[in-house]
Amino acid sequence: MAGRINDEDVRAVRSAVPIDSVVSEYLQLRPAGGGNLKGLCPFHDEKSPSFHVSPAKGFYHCFGCQEGGDTVDFVMKVEHLSFSETIERLARQAGITLRYEEGGYNPGRQQGERTRLIEAHKHAAQFYVDQLQSAEAEIGRRFLAERGFDQAAAEHFGVGYSPAGWDHLTRFLRGKGFTDKELILSGISQDGRRGPIDRFRGRLMWPIRDITGEVVGFGARKLRDDDNGPKYLNTPETPLYRKSQVLYGIDLAKREISKQGRAVVVEGYTDVMACHLSGVTTAIATCGTAFGGEHVKILRRVLTDNSRSEVVFTFDGDAAGQKAALRAFEDDQKFAARTSIAITPGGMDPCELRLAKGDDAVHQLVEDRSPLFEFAIRSFVAQHNLDTAEGRSAALEESAPVVARIKDSAIQHEYAVQLAGMLGILDERFVVRRVGQLARWAREGGGRQRAGGPGQRGQQAPQQAAPPGPRGPAINLRNPAHHAERELLKLALQFPALVSPAFDAYGTDEFTAPPYAAVKVAIEAAGGAALADDGYLIRVRDCAPDDTVRSLITELAVEPLRTRREADEMYAGEQLVKVRLAAADRRIDEVRGSLHRLGPQAAPDQQAAVQNELWVLQQYRQALRERGAAAL
Ligand code: CTP
Ligand code: MN
Repeated sequence: MAGRINDEDVRAVRSAVPIDSVVSEYLQLRPAGGGNLKGLCPFHDEKSPSFHVSPAKGFYHCFGCQEGGDTVDFVMKVEHLSFSETIERLARQAGITLRYEEGGYNPGRQQGERTRLIEAHKHAAQFYVDQLQSAEAEIGRRFLAERGFDQAAAEHFGVGYSPAGWDHLTRFLRGKGFTDKELILSGISQDGRRGPIDRFRGRLMWPIRDITGEVVGFGARKLRDDDNGPKYLNTPETPLYRKSQVLYGIDLAKREISKQGRAVVVEGYTDVMACHLSGVTTAIATCGTAFGGEHVKILRRVLTDNSRSEVVFTFDGDAAGQKAALRAFEDDQKFAARTSIAITPGGMDPCELRLAKGDDAVHQLVEDRSPLFEFAIRSFVAQHNLDTAEGRSAALEESAPVVARIKDSAIQHEYAVQLAGMLGILDERFVVRRVGQLARWAREGGGRQRAGGPGQRGQQAPQQAAPPGPRGPAINLRNPAHHAERELLKLALQFPALVSPAFDAYGTDEFTAPPYAAVKVAIEAAGGAALADDGYLIRVRDCAPDDTVRSLITELAVEPLRTRREADEMYAGEQLVKVRLAAADRRIDEVRGSLHRLGPQAAPDQQAAVQNELWVLQQYRQALRERGAAAL
């Protein structure tokens, strides 16, 4: 860090650059009377000019959005620069050498060094651009053409070529007066056996610029098979270039990012180019490293005033997207809440997408993004078959902890409701309660994260730890469904003739309590209630999978019925109808849910089939209600 800029120098810079000349780099100014000028405000959208500039006073003011200040304020605001970056930039324009005070080690020299390194990069970038026209660079021009980039595109991004020899650029820069020490420090050259040699040789070169537009490093793409280096080679860490802080394309994208309140993060240099050329001019990329906290800080500066601002990450493939999405719950959740994910179709990156499907497809990619939290939840839900009750319940059990990890309670609630919709669970309060409960447990559990979540998938307590026997909800006799199921099983074990033949036709899934379903399975395995004879109960017991179910069978075989009446056909019929009716109700909910999930865009015949099943079920339910066992 350089020290504080000398006050006197700041004053000199402020008065050195006329405000009208700076402003007119950004907008058309025309006379507004009294020596003043006016134009369309760059800080808000307007059709008639309310942005006024007074060259005499050195100030600007917008009567539309009330933005105002002097030259320095204007450059800071329009270029998203810090105060000292602005002063340094204006000083360079005006040819003023700045003096620095206090702070940092020998700041004056550091600043001089920075200026020298920037100068070296400027020359190097131009050198590479010129070399792209050489005969040797044919392979580079072809690479660009094959990826859909013409001459104008290459120029817009300053793409160049580094010649294949050892030290063409090093010698060129020495000729410009740069010392070997400066060339090594800049990363442009590296130590060879006999002095410095070019770091990048025989590669396609992308200049990497900082937010102020200065070239601070390069990304270099391998072009030839005999190049043993990595596919991409970047400038190493230098006083100018810190990979955790550079965002390729930020210089070109910053104004649109600020205006649209959105940044699109892609993976490579060619992706940034493809996006910009397709009209997605908010695209940027990290350079050979993952997007991290320092990158967030830089984007924040550009997105500051915009509370609705959003960062869109593109990924070629679900797997990569999911991996990234899971980090959403670990990293800064405030940032995550304003983050979206866009997955390119067919695993293409934006550059390939543009080549294959054109500019519109790149636009559409960004349009089709989904909020990060939603994407993460959807990834979990998608792993289950939502057409079965088991699948939905498993999906809920796995996704609810994910939603529970969202810290902001309003956002958490919103996604709990959304999760209910994804699962086709009509009673969204149920899901909201479940999520709330998990979140509470997680909070109260302190360090032990009982709510689980993506980070812990596959690391949960092994299933063997669960008590043996049927899993699932405990039997709850207050639950009317469980009550009827129990009565029906007692009848089937004690008075099999009363429930036959209807009982044997019942599906296992009509018994919602897993232990009861296990008893039904045992009865089936024993030949069914219709074939009951002297050895019936012994057979059923023998067919039990374990002691728990076996003892439940004994229990049900001896427990009195919960009726004061005699066990008769009427009572048996009532229990048969109750169980069947509850199953029909559940099925109706399922079908409604799948209709809901199909959504209005579903194929008409698919929709009609589901509608039809719903209608049949409703008729059946009606018949059961009206005619009881006769309708079975
Ligand atoms: N990258 C890198 N080092 C590598 C490979 C990739 O730094 N060895 C970075 C580069 O910034 C590159 C981005 O990751 O732009 C994307 O890499 P990749 O998807 O492998 O590149 P492609 O899309 O295949 O690029 P190209 O069109 O150059 O083949
Ligand atoms: Mn790629």
